Amino acid sequence: MKNFRNFCIIAHIDHGKSTLADRLLQATHTLNEREFQNQVLDNMDLEREKGITIKSHAIQMEYVQDNETYILNLIDTPGHVDFSYEVSRAIAACEGALLIVDATQGIQAQTISNLYLALEHNLEIIPVINKIDMEAAMVEEVTDQIVELIGCKPEDIIPASAKTGIGVPEILEAIVSRVPAPAGDPAAPLQALIFDSVFNSFRGIIAYFKVTNGTLRQGDKVKFFNTGREYVADEIGVLKMKMVPRQEIKAGDVGYIISGIKTSSEVKVGDTITQVANSCSKAIAGFEDVKPMVFAGLYPVDSDDYEDLRSSLEKLQLNDASLTFEPESSLALGFGFRAGFLGLLHMEIIQERLYREFDMDVITTVPNVSYKVHTTKGDVVEVHNPSGLPAPTLIDFIEEPTIHAQVITKTEYLGAIMKLCIDKRGILRNQVFLSTDRVEVNFDMPLSEIVFDFYDKLKSISRGYASFDYYLNGYQQATLVKLDILLNGEPVDALSCLIHRDNAYDFGRKMCEKLKELIPRQQFDIAIQAAIGAKVIARETIKALRKDVTAKCYGGDISRKRKLLEKQKKGKKRMRQVGNVEVPQQAFLAVLKMG
Ligand code: GTP
Repeated sequence: MKNFRNFCIIAHIDHGKSTLADRLLQATHTLNEREFQNQVLDNMDLEREKGITIKSHAIQMEYVQDNETYILNLIDTPGHVDFSYEVSRAIAACEGALLIVDATQGIQAQTISNLYLALEHNLEIIPVINKIDMEAAMVEEVTDQIVELIGCKPEDIIPASAKTGIGVPEILEAIVSRVPAPAGDPAAPLQALIFDSVFNSFRGIIAYFKVTNGTLRQGDKVKFFNTGREYVADEIGVLKMKMVPRQEIKAGDVGYIISGIKTSSEVKVGDTITQVANSCSKAIAGFEDVKPMVFAGLYPVDSDDYEDLRSSLEKLQLNDASLTFEPESSLALGFGFRAGFLGLLHMEIIQERLYREFDMDVITTVPNVSYKVHTTKGDVVEVHNPSGLPAPTLIDFIEEPTIHAQVITKTEYLGAIMKLCIDKRGILRNQVFLSTDRVEVNFDMPLSEIVFDFYDKLKSISRGYASFDYYLNGYQQATLVKLDILLNGEPVDALSCLIHRDNAYDFGRKMCEKLKELIPRQQFDIAIQAAIGAKVIARETIKALRKDVTAKCYGGDISRKRKLLEKQKKGKKRMRQVGNVEVPQQAFLAVLKMG
């Protein structure tokens, strides 16, 4: 066990995590030269999507130093703000972390928030400045930032280039000399932490774990602590370039288990595996049942694709347990699903995967967060859908989820970003200068405020020089209303949303203006209204069309007239009928994107 080293890589997106990981695989001969070449070629085609480490989630390398062989387990952390819980579990499985900072970019929000998680778990941090081969590298400045941030000595920082290989031997040496060997007793009752899982169409769910205590043997009867379910460890092993079966995996090591599990919901990240016969007395601390926080309706653009959408979502759910969905129907959009996501970016990923992997074009309704409605009867109802809100007389009060948001930016954008966060009902917690021109600001904010257009606004006001991260931070009371959009008095359910009262007027007005642009004139006037209950808060009118489309044809040319009518009919197919008003599909899309 003294020769095990478990570590992860903390880096902001694009700072070089995958490239460096592949270099480590190459330097330890885990990946041979030919495979490395292939990988490099793959990278050219589809860059990030094929990073081996990203596909593997965890990988084991053997590294020889002074005739001593060390087993290095690299555990991947999802590089994505919505997955902070998963990151925390991956970090909990490690004793050390490489902190990679791009020499041309400096420290960014994601680096810091993951660093805090790593420090909370007492990980040994090895700071690395990457991309020193680049002309724009600001090695001294970034060194100062890192020293300031973690309080290390400048000589503790390893200058490196994942591209040319500079610094790679030093990084491997540092992993061995600085990261402590895992503690734990191989003879104790089994305690193994699940930090990730994947779905394999032949083998079912494969769970990845780190044994903190005890020894797991092939064929053992095991129990997953939090779900209470029991299985047989059909196959266990370690992860190299492929899965390598083993008879046993001891305390301190990282491995995989295949036990005939078919659904992803049975394997929860953070759960503890123990033996049925000699069960540990308590689970590894830190388990959380992560619940989706952002909800939206997903409707097929073509209503004939409803069943295909269901099967695509089912397939996505197999390897993404945090995605939930249930059937929902809308008068305007037909049959679809109400889906739950960890956050807005997770929602975008699912939308993108539906499109890319399943060729499914979907309409997403206005997303909303999950609210806790306290009724006058004393019950608490979770509301994910505008139509699920109880009648106003039954509502005592409503609570909304809040987040702790962290933004890192250049000082020149600080004022504009502060204003944005305050406009979004943020409360400033603190601000820390990381260097003379770089500042970290922390806000408490309602989650619902970042569900709309927060990212885009942040990006545009900072010209891209702001990085953002957040974690959930409890609930607070909120004054929430249901905003309806009516066309000639008919409510369009797909456009209803739950919104904070202070934002309702502005949002309602914008919706009406946008719809006015997008709905074509028809034979009669169309009133577009935004309303809270019976109270109309905004209104626009589309004037009736006076001209007959066929009028141009002078009544003479019958075939031309027919063609025109047919064209009009075809156009109608892409329209949705709301009461007597025809709404182009594209109007829904545009309005929902508006935020
Ligand atoms: P995500 O997978 O998006 O989180 O990014 P990542 O952190 O894994 O970064 P990745 O390894 O994909 O590198 C991002 C880009 O930087 C790629 O185009 C790499 O080729 C490039 N890159 C990585 N390391 C170096 C380096 O040391 N020098 C130079 N010049 N480029 C590098």
